[in-house]
Amino acid sequence: MKPRILILYYSFTQQTRRVAEAMAEEFSALDCDAELCEIEFLDQRYRIELPFRPVGRKLFRWLLPQVTGKTGEVRVPEGVCSQDYDLICLGSPTWWLNPAMPVVSFLKSPAAGQLLKNRRFAVFTACRKMWWNNMRRVKKLARKQGGTFIDGAAFCFRGNDIQSALSFISYMKNDANLERFWGVKIYEFGIPPEGIARAKEFARELAVRLMSPSEANTEDVS
Ligand SMILES: Cc1cc2nc3c(=O)[nH]c(=O)nc-3n(C[C@H](O)[C@H](O)[C@H](O)COP(=O)(O)O)c2cc1C
Repeated sequence: MKPRILILYYSFTQQTRRVAEAMAEEFSALDCDAELCEIEFLDQRYRIELPFRPVGRKLFRWLLPQVTGKTGEVRVPEGVCSQDYDLICLGSPTWWLNPAMPVVSFLKSPAAGQLLKNRRFAVFTACRKMWWNNMRRVKKLARKQGGTFIDGAAFCFRGNDIQSALSFISYMKNDANLERFWGVKIYEFGIPPEGIARAKEFARELAVRLMSPSEANTEDVS
């Protein structure tokens, strides 16, 4: 039987989606049954849309809800949470050092318990740079719902902290990839091609693990 894999993610500026799609492509190429599923963020109290103008004020608006772990209304396609998957890959953007609110909202919901209880999960984070606390919190929330963590990977933007911040702010403000911001040449917004290649590699590692029974159930306790 083909391993059944769910790739469940939220994405606002499409970078987590790009990683999720690359992973799905690789899983399918390795003869796994991979399903992509996006968490929809429906909560009108926390509407988020591009462009972010004024960019500073719009970004800071998210600081408090994010760091205090607030939740909002989300939806995943009906029936997904009652399926029996061999692996669930959870994709989470970083917002203010934490998993984006839609991901936290789903992971705190009863539906997440139904999906994750006694199942293996992996985590992938997409962000400018700061993936560590995002990964740690997703792992913690998914384990609390009964899941077993097997592996994680982070996919970050090009450049150092300042360079990636300039690309990010420029994109959020303009809803477009510009070559310069404040007169400075900037990197293209998002995960670079080598990050997408690494996402495929990560999927390959997970698939190999699933297909070798001695490895498949090894929990990563870190
Ligand atoms: C409100 C908000 C806060 C963010 N905070 C951080 C942060 O603290 N650290 C970081 O590395 N990236 C941060 N980012 C950048 C995102 O992680 C990055 O844009 C990533 O591409 C988001 O994934 P997505 O494209 O799938 O939505 C933030 C983005 C938003 C919208």
